[in-house]
Amino acid sequence: MNIIEIKDLSFLYSEEEGLVLRDINLNIEKGEWVAILGHNGSGKSTLSKLIVGLLEKKSGSIIVNEKELCVGNEYEIRESISIVFQNPDNQFVGATVKDDIAFGLENQLLTREEMIKRIDYYSKKVNMHGFLNKEPHNLSGGEKQRVAIAGALAMDTEIIILDEATSMLDPRGKSEVIETIKSLQDGDKTIITITHELSEAVLCDRVIVLNKGRIVLDGAPKEVFKERELIVEAGLDILPTLKVLDKLEEENIDNDKLKEILWELSLTM
Ligand SMILES: Nc1ncnc2c1ncn2[C@@H]1O[C@H](COP(=O)(O)OP(=O)(O)OP(=O)(O)O)[C@@H](O)[C@H]1O
Ligand SMILES: [Mg+2]
Repeated sequence: MNIIEIKDLSFLYSEEEGLVLRDINLNIEKGEWVAILGHNGSGKSTLSKLIVGLLEKKSGSIIVNEKELCVGNEYEIRESISIVFQNPDNQFVGATVKDDIAFGLENQLLTREEMIKRIDYYSKKVNMHGFLNKEPHNLSGGEKQRVAIAGALAMDTEIIILDEATSMLDPRGKSEVIETIKSLQDGDKTIITITHELSEAVLCDRVIVLNKGRIVLDGAPKEVFKERELIVEAGLDILPTLKVLDKLEEENIDNDKLKEILWELSLTM
């Protein structure tokens, strides 16, 4: 079942600047983990804001959970989606970390016990349990991102969108959070990870590459990463291991075993 169906979607902020998204066609299946990759300004955040109804499309349609998104039903649509925005400073509303995570849960009519259980569980998952009584604005960038992720996960929605949500985490923190997300996906959640780093897309089921508001690649990481020209054209950095692979080919070094190892490494980074 497609949990998200996007048909011929186009969008612009202003006539002078022109289209920011062009003819986007994208179906996402329930339980899929999709990475949306693209360079700065390619339209990734715009696409995510359209999906949650924060922006109004110019043409085309967006269907979430079999309901077409239109003016007036954004709130209903948002019951099944949680989103972590790109800039963690723009999403804190609570006086403490705990209040902040709780705030997102307030519309869900949970019992107090259930609310506390979720706050505890997800703050531990992102290693922020010791920070529950701290003021969000005093946290470091990476800590803010961890809290924002905990808040989104605690909502327990069917779809989770993470817009560069781990950009300020160090490599180990990133892997830990990615592992947490992966474990949730195994429990049937649909996850959209927005990033410009190929290494973050390696574990996903599917990678979509955006270039200037158009989808230029769509497939399993293994297939998409082979399209090195299109990836470079889209302004993205190919993985270091694949750069070595290219160099071997350029230099006519034929070592199949080495090539196989480099390829395997690329898909497990
Ligand atoms: N509120 C806005 N008003 C006008 N133009 C905007 C607005 N937000 C974004 N844009 C423009 O739309 C284009 C796409 O922006 P968007 O934020 O979706 O890109 P992105 O792929 O998320 O980039 P990044 O990797 O930097 O986050 C850019 O050219 C940007 O300048
Ligand atoms: Mg963005």
